[in-house]
Amino acid sequence: KFQNLALTPPMGWNSWNKFACNVNEEMIREMADAMVATGMKDAGYSFINIDDCWHGDRDSLGFIHPDSARFPSGIKALADYVHSKGLKLGIYSDAGSQTCGGRPGSRGYEFQDALMYAKWGVDYLKYDWCNTEGLKAEGAYKTITAAMKNAGKPIVLSICEWGTDSPWVWGQNVGHLWRTTGDIYNCFDCIEDHGTWKSFGVMQILDKQEGLRKYAGPGHWNDPDMLEIGNGALNEGEDRAHFTMWAMIAAPLIAGNDLRTMTPEVKAVLTNKNVIGINQDSLGVQGYKLNTTLAKGVDVWFKPLVNNEWAVCFLNRSVKDQKVQLNWASLDNIDSLSNKHFATKTTKYTGANLWKKDNVVSTSKALDVVVPAHDVLVYRFKKN
Ligand code: DGJ
Repeated sequence: KFQNLALTPPMGWNSWNKFACNVNEEMIREMADAMVATGMKDAGYSFINIDDCWHGDRDSLGFIHPDSARFPSGIKALADYVHSKGLKLGIYSDAGSQTCGGRPGSRGYEFQDALMYAKWGVDYLKYDWCNTEGLKAEGAYKTITAAMKNAGKPIVLSICEWGTDSPWVWGQNVGHLWRTTGDIYNCFDCIEDHGTWKSFGVMQILDKQEGLRKYAGPGHWNDPDMLEIGNGALNEGEDRAHFTMWAMIAAPLIAGNDLRTMTPEVKAVLTNKNVIGINQDSLGVQGYKLNTTLAKGVDVWFKPLVNNEWAVCFLNRSVKDQKVQLNWASLDNIDSLSNKHFATKTTKYTGANLWKKDNVVSTSKALDVVVPAHDVLVYRFKKN
């Protein structure tokens, strides 16, 4: 794979969660404009990613072309436009014979498709897993990686096989991020049963990340799927909780809403630079849940950061506000993965509340907080 890409979790936007198959070049250009105008670009987002349904047909030589009704100017022109805004363009394909949306897949055409993506100036490829009968995931993803290396243009590879063949085990040498689950569903706490397959609410996706943190690090990330923030089902606290937890677990931050029409509240969530700082921390250590219950439905998460700082996050999954006390002395916490040592009985800590301006706590013993229902409190701590 291409090294030195995605040294922090990728940040961008993708068309699928809001628009599904409904993509066209005008909308993609407008999304690039909105990413700049809303301050998302300044906050660190760089990828504009087209998901399924951009493909048209292959020509007589087998080269792929975009759907000419939806992308009349072609992908190269679109990439040029996105690049002119200081952003990057992502595209989508599938390891099988057809994409999930029934468009031509890359199976048997990997080297030709990679040549086209390189020629167009594409920066990111999400590679899906529908219609892959008889293929082995690791081999199929290695083929597209080899094809892209052959084409020569560095491209971030997003492995999208839904965690079926443990991509966290082999993914780090093959791509830059791998989906750990089936699709996210636009709700905070629920499972949606589609009959033969299920999709998962924000909390259910979070639960499925258990045990995966050791596989993540600079250049290779667990991907718990794209964000549902601003898509109408979550309230403001739930949007905050979704965003904060994705930051805590070093997840790619790929917005999935309509950037052109988002409310100031949604924009404030997606562009919170303090929380983004937790996600983009250069140590690249995925956060973890403490094995302690302070109140029913309240989890405490830690994430080691550079310079011996720590993020501490309280997640309230219950429907009531919860008063909790976190006692440093009872923790004396060492993260066995990063070998970083946080709380000790004698040290004093200062922490900034990342969602509330100028709210700084200083504590040597315990932290007393009230965590609102379906919401989070997150602090960035350092030793005094
Ligand atoms: C399945 C993927 O998991 C989704 O994120 C999306 O890319 C769809 N396929 C597109 O068909």
